[in-house]
Amino acid sequence: MNLLNVYDYEQAAAEIMPKTYHEYYAGGVADNLTLYENRVAFDRLKLLPRIFRDVSQVSLETEIMEEKRPSPFLIAPAAMHKLGHPDGELATARAAASFGMPQILSTLSSVSVEEITAVGHPVWFQLYIFRDRGWSAEIVQRAVAAGCEALVVTVDVPVQGLRENLKRINFSVPASLPLPNLTRSGSSQDNKSLLKLVDENFDPGLTWQDINWLRSLTDLPIWVKGILRADDAQQAADAGANGIVVSNHGGRQLDTAVTPIEALPAIKTAVGDQIELILDGGIRRGTDVLKALALGANGVALGRAPLWGLAVNGETGVQHVLQILHDELRNVMAQCGCTAVAELTPDLILNS
Ligand SMILES: Cc1cc2nc3c(=O)[nH]c(=O)nc-3n(C[C@H](O)[C@H](O)[C@H](O)COP(=O)(O)O)c2cc1C
Repeated sequence: MNLLNVYDYEQAAAEIMPKTYHEYYAGGVADNLTLYENRVAFDRLKLLPRIFRDVSQVSLETEIMEEKRPSPFLIAPAAMHKLGHPDGELATARAAASFGMPQILSTLSSVSVEEITAVGHPVWFQLYIFRDRGWSAEIVQRAVAAGCEALVVTVDVPVQGLRENLKRINFSVPASLPLPNLTRSGSSQDNKSLLKLVDENFDPGLTWQDINWLRSLTDLPIWVKGILRADDAQQAADAGANGIVVSNHGGRQLDTAVTPIEALPAIKTAVGDQIELILDGGIRRGTDVLKALALGANGVALGRAPLWGLAVNGETGVQHVLQILHDELRNVMAQCGCTAVAELTPDLILNS
């Protein structure tokens, strides 16, 4: 197959991957309505391109967390990249590093945080807070010691979503698949049932106080991932969070939840420039990125897109997917008359 875009990779990955692993990567929850909407919400937005703007040079340079970045892309945290390729998150890390792109590493990664930070690109650590706060504190300390540049605490899994798809196929993690960020000295972790691990350890009792608790553990910037409401966004800013990931967990948690791209304008209006915003969910095209930035996101994170590249061709596959998205963004920015990310404003979108 001629792999020209992210959808080509998605299809090729579906053909190559074992069915159950593919379902874990691709699937949503319940009736998959939010999973579907994450895509079509982007497609519904119509662009109003500007003409005659001299677009011979287009720069993707972006500032996030007071640092210049080559582009607005980040890798979103996704559990267990080794289900896609034996090199797992290391392949993703090397590909991201070749673009100078930050990678948000999942608590449930199948390569350890220390091996990933050794690659040398910016690594942010995604944290699930466990009932056992001592365990979570150990994980945070490890991430800090490994050199992670930020913590991203995921708040949209107070309880596991209705993963009927995984129950139907009796999804289990292979015993050989490591979850090295969870290993504690003197204990062994049973990885077999991810659903069980989540049910037993994720804490449904989390509140805003936990941001203060995290703050007491580290001076690293703290991002809150999984906000969809303007009032929660304001509360995150008030709680001293450095940024928000506007996200519905890629349609993997609450079915019929609003899509991030629909939620973004109200969140941006509420928080203005008090706090930075990254959007994830459904990004498959350069136009999706352009729309998210135009509506107020400072960056976008990619969940499944790099996973499809990984499954098809390891590091090279991820690198190609990232190249495709960079090229598409540059192309559509030029077509919209924009030479820099700062020129992406809401008037590029009809009725915004
Ligand atoms: C296979 C898979 C595993 C995921 N694991 C995590 C995780 O461990 N932590 C987390 O915060 N989000 C996780 N997510 C959600 C992503 O970070 C992100 O919100 C979502 O994938 C974005 O949507 P997209 O896949 O359409 O780009 C996962 C997503 C996928 C597809």
